[in-house]
Amino acid sequence: MVRRTHSNPVTAVLSGLLDQRSKGPKVAPVPPGVRLDGRTCLVTGANSGLGKAIAIRLAARGAHVIMACRSGIPEAGQDVRAASGSDKVEMIQVDLSDFDSMTAFCDQLRDRNVTLDVAVFNAGVVPVTSRQNKHGLELMFAVNFLAKFVLLHRLLHDGVIPNAVFGHNSRAEDPPRVIFVSSETHRSSIPIDFGTFGEPIEYGVSDGVKYYGLSKLHLTTYFQELSRRLTPGGNGDNPDVCVHALCPGAINSNMAREAPTWLKPILKPVMALFFQSPEKASVPVDYLVASSEMGGKTGEYMHMLRIKHPSEASMDPENGALLWTKAEELLRKHDVI
Ligand SMILES: NC(=O)c1ccc[n+]([C@@H]2O[C@H](COP(=O)([O-])OP(=O)(O)OC[C@H]3O[C@@H](n4cnc5c(N)ncnc54)[C@H](OP(=O)(O)O)[C@@H]3O)[C@@H](O)[C@H]2O)c1
Repeated sequence: MVRRTHSNPVTAVLSGLLDQRSKGPKVAPVPPGVRLDGRTCLVTGANSGLGKAIAIRLAARGAHVIMACRSGIPEAGQDVRAASGSDKVEMIQVDLSDFDSMTAFCDQLRDRNVTLDVAVFNAGVVPVTSRQNKHGLELMFAVNFLAKFVLLHRLLHDGVIPNAVFGHNSRAEDPPRVIFVSSETHRSSIPIDFGTFGEPIEYGVSDGVKYYGLSKLHLTTYFQELSRRLTPGGNGDNPDVCVHALCPGAINSNMAREAPTWLKPILKPVMALFFQSPEKASVPVDYLVASSEMGGKTGEYMHMLRIKHPSEASMDPENGALLWTKAEELLRKHDVI
């Protein structure tokens, strides 16, 4: 068996190519006739790549789509309206590396009495070398993981995503769905070091992908813990909120925008030739959002159209509980929660 590693840009690209050849039973895509009229769906990072393709799919099914974006306003919204044939599309500006911006975003949804039926946390970043946000936190840790914790803390406590556990406004029928876009790179990550949790890390071109995997391990561990906390019975049945995650597989998107200059002339044609289009990569996300099968379940993880378990480390309840406590401590220190 080929051992997948994602420790540097070259092995990550090779692993992306191998992804296209994965075997095993696949779920069937949701037929186009399935409608989401009357539902409100949030998509983060919806101005580009996978997020934009998801926004188009959900708008085409009749959902009211809120595109939460840092850039591309209003052009990306116009593109989504044109491609989906729907005008139930709006854009709200948010920078997911900035606590103040996320707080203003959540205030706006709460003050407008928005109820979210679906929230797709898609936005992600891969800086070429280590960078910190304005709060002194490493950027991938901040955007790929912590931003999701911050937004969900507010959206669940405010009842914008209806739930009994934090919002006391549970919706027994047709529970809301929360979807995280993670990555198979979480499997080959170094373990989470809870002793240095949230402390800035330094990396260069050759080991950035390793820390990308770590940020996705944080996210996948959080996804599992959240799905446990939002299931009153604790056994995965009758969830208060359906919480799912996936790796969409390798995508020909803007994700490698910060790749080193020497690698771009190789990377661009390889991605264009062998990686999936964002439209194709959005099919499993659409499945998690719109299929009836995923409505009564929680904690499901997919790799493209295949249902799998995420890594053992991410499923460990002790890791999940510790991650939750550490994230809360960090956010209290920054006066965010
Ligand atoms: N591409 C792949 O091969 C691949 C494989 C597995 C998983 N994924 C995951 O798929 C997701 C989507 O990535 P993609 O491939 O579609 O890449 P992409 O085209 O680069 O899209 C990334 C999105 O995230 C947004 N974003 C980044 N930092 C942000 C911030 N601070 N605040 C708000 N938005 C921010 C970007 O907004 P701006 O345009 O404003 O920067 C953009 O909309 C990511 O979570 C990625 O990790 C990708």
